[in-house]
Amino acid sequence: MRERRRHGGGDVRCGPPPRKKVPKSPRWSRAVVATAVSGAVALFALGFTFYVKWSLETSVLTFHPSPLIYPPNSSSPAVTPQLFWGSYRPQVYFGMKTRSPRSVVTGLMWITQSQFPALRHTCEQSDGLARYGWLLHDGVNFGIQEIRDKGYTLTTEFVKRPGGLHGGDWSWRFRVTPQASAPAGQLVSLLFYVATDGQGTLQPHLDQKGRLSHVTGTSEELGKFTMRFPKPEGGGGHVSYNHLSTACPGLHVLTDVVQRSLRDSFVHPVSVGDSAGRRQYLGLDTYRPPPSPPGAASHPSNSQLVIHQVTFQVPFQVEVLFESDSFLQRPGPLSGNALSELLQSHRGRMEERFRSIFKLETKGFTPEQVAFAQAALSNMLGGMGHFYGSSLVQSQHNAEPVPYPAAPLFTAVPSRSFFPRGFLWDEGFHLLLIARWDASLAWQSLGHWLDLMNADGWIPREQILGQEARSKVPDEFVVQRNENANPPTLFLALRQLLSKETISPEELAFLRRAFPRLNTWYTWFNVTQAGSLPNTFRWRGRDKDPLRFLNPKTLTSGLDDYPRASHPSDDERHVDLFCWMALASKVMADISEILGEDGTRYSESRRTMTDNVLLDRLHWSETLSAYSDYGNHTQSAVLEWEKPQPLPGQDPRGLPPPRLIRRVKKPPKLQFVGSFGYVSLFPFLLQILSPDSPRLGRLLDQLHDADKVWTPYGLRSLSKSSPLYMKHNTEHDGPYWRGPIWINMNYLAVRALHGYAHLEGPYRERAASLYRELRENLLTNLYREYKDTGFLWEQYNDKTGQGQGTFPFTGWSSLIVLIMAEEY
Ligand SMILES: *[C@@H]1O[C@H](CO)[C@@H](O)[C@H](O)[C@H]1NC(C)=O
Ligand SMILES: *[C@@H]1O[C@H](CO)[C@@H](O)[C@H](O)[C@H]1NC(C)=O
Ligand SMILES: *[C@@H]1O[C@H](CO)[C@@H](O)[C@H](O)[C@H]1NC(C)=O
Repeated sequence: MRERRRHGGGDVRCGPPPRKKVPKSPRWSRAVVATAVSGAVALFALGFTFYVKWSLETSVLTFHPSPLIYPPNSSSPAVTPQLFWGSYRPQVYFGMKTRSPRSVVTGLMWITQSQFPALRHTCEQSDGLARYGWLLHDGVNFGIQEIRDKGYTLTTEFVKRPGGLHGGDWSWRFRVTPQASAPAGQLVSLLFYVATDGQGTLQPHLDQKGRLSHVTGTSEELGKFTMRFPKPEGGGGHVSYNHLSTACPGLHVLTDVVQRSLRDSFVHPVSVGDSAGRRQYLGLDTYRPPPSPPGAASHPSNSQLVIHQVTFQVPFQVEVLFESDSFLQRPGPLSGNALSELLQSHRGRMEERFRSIFKLETKGFTPEQVAFAQAALSNMLGGMGHFYGSSLVQSQHNAEPVPYPAAPLFTAVPSRSFFPRGFLWDEGFHLLLIARWDASLAWQSLGHWLDLMNADGWIPREQILGQEARSKVPDEFVVQRNENANPPTLFLALRQLLSKETISPEELAFLRRAFPRLNTWYTWFNVTQAGSLPNTFRWRGRDKDPLRFLNPKTLTSGLDDYPRASHPSDDERHVDLFCWMALASKVMADISEILGEDGTRYSESRRTMTDNVLLDRLHWSETLSAYSDYGNHTQSAVLEWEKPQPLPGQDPRGLPPPRLIRRVKKPPKLQFVGSFGYVSLFPFLLQILSPDSPRLGRLLDQLHDADKVWTPYGLRSLSKSSPLYMKHNTEHDGPYWRGPIWINMNYLAVRALHGYAHLEGPYRERAASLYRELRENLLTNLYREYKDTGFLWEQYNDKTGQGQGTFPFTGWSSLIVLIMAEEY
């Protein structure tokens, strides 16, 4: 599409060449020339208009001109072999792929063979698993995951072994053990698959008994490889085998293909106690594609899929081996004892490293609490994915959404079940934890994100790359608009990564490559999100409908429905964005200094924006005794049902249904926005507020007030006494950032209290005591909820402390590890 436009634009710009021929007769010539010239001018003007339109339409799609921080070969097995293979498919319970655009993918599905069999593959909250997640995962070499299904526990392990030219070998081990309360003789099938994505080949190999013993294959990034399925152990001695080898329309429909290939006509011998018998089970047979609607074009299959199914009675254990043909000096197969030993040695190393980095034992945590922290970190690392594809983007100059150029993204994800893709502002928080564990992983993600920037300095905030990712997102959230920002939290991560004595040569090289992008990014914010007064800022992209929302949302700020000015206008100024920009100025000033670049404009901005006189003038409301947004606002807005009344003689059945709309009881006026909560805390959260400011004292008083944001489980997002506390925004839009407790903001609060407790000032003691109390509340509640429910959650209820929203949410909720370790 982009190519076609470029040609169209080019033709128009060329103008009409035939007019160049000058007629012979001089008498006619002037008139003809005049006509020709005016024609050419008109056409040129038309062409120029098209050109301008075309360039505006495509500017959103033009990548930043500076060289990529991570060019395509930086993810290749030659340059980063240790990161080539990984569990980079966080959306499935278990699966691996490589960091390449059209990777061969491998993974697991399983079936409980009961009266109501269920096929498990992608992480779904509706599966109702009691818990699942990584117990240990070091982000690079190995991972151990526990999945509690109904009646049995499935342990999935993988470990990589470097060697050869294509990212080396890996092995998997699965153990299925019955739970105490489970009925005897449960029958379970594990299905291991390998699939190509539009390139490469797979060849299944059967032994004499017709069992799939291995698959050989090739692909552009893996060369030749073999995936082996050794005979499993346990299962009461009986194992049934099925397999399937088929073409498949794409990786996003793997589950459907398997569902459409299962038949319940297979039998498996079972023994329970002394009695033996036979049980029917669902097994792979042949793929029966859905009937295509008449007249529909048939889609060419671009994936090849091979699946190996083993069916047994629990308990049992099975291994799968992947071997790269370029790995020549292999000491022996990575199975049995060799596999156990390698897993054990990585496990020992990870535990040792965890102890030395986070030192939880010395802070009095029990072994169970340490295991909780290890699981939180492991799920953050095990949630890292590699995605490749195009976002759908739109600017005000595009009538329709257009695909952004395809690019890779290596990133952590907020939630494996619900948000298994990259989110810009979440990632800045993720990297705070990842950087402590393995800075090189954090740099990789940071570089990938900055490489997604377009020439204007915009980064799409939700990254839905590739068919697999797209299949998880409702249509209304797919398109990313280029006037929309998202908090520049990558500056938080950069500050963390650079807060040390010496910067290594690789890090310096990174900063040098990143600097032009960071400059453009900063400027994009400074220009496109500027407020109407100097040094004020305003989030763009607020909801527009004046009737639909109790308070129009500000999705771009990250805090979705947190109350802002009731009537969006150009006069608005947002205190959270002001503080993000103050932070960005500080970090850019520091980076300029490290690189010896001229950072005068950043140090000037830093000086202006961290000067509390300006902050107080723009955002301090004496009446509220708090920092606040400013705008066209009224506190008196409510949602009311509007019932259409029939006109005389009109049939009431023909009327539209009643609707819930906003009614404004008192007209809005320019004023500070009266809602106390996370936004009011920003000058404190990002530590812009001076330690000796009397306003810090007043803010700490409000913080500790149980009628406002303080709870025994952490700080709630909106004051209990705010008019919009826990209010719906529309009939179906429940409160999200209007009361519940969020861990990213609580992490910033704990960190800020710790910071103020270590600075000279009149509120030092108070900050120290609040620090201890808030930290304790968060630790106690998140640990208790994890023990009770098996998960970390998206948010926590401010009345009961219970986890709510999506789960598992091991993105920024995993920052609890840093709170335990007191690493800020
Ligand atoms: C990777 O590609 C860049 C150009 O994009 C090239 O300069 C560099 O030498 C390559 N590195 C390796 C290790 O192949
Ligand atoms: C941000 O924009 C303002 C207003 O245009 C300008 O004065 C200031 O220098 C800019 N800041 C930086 C760091 O570029
Ligand atoms: C505030 O909003 C109201 C309602 O939209 C509008 O009539 C009024 O002009 C606005 N006031 C200002 C100062 O923008």
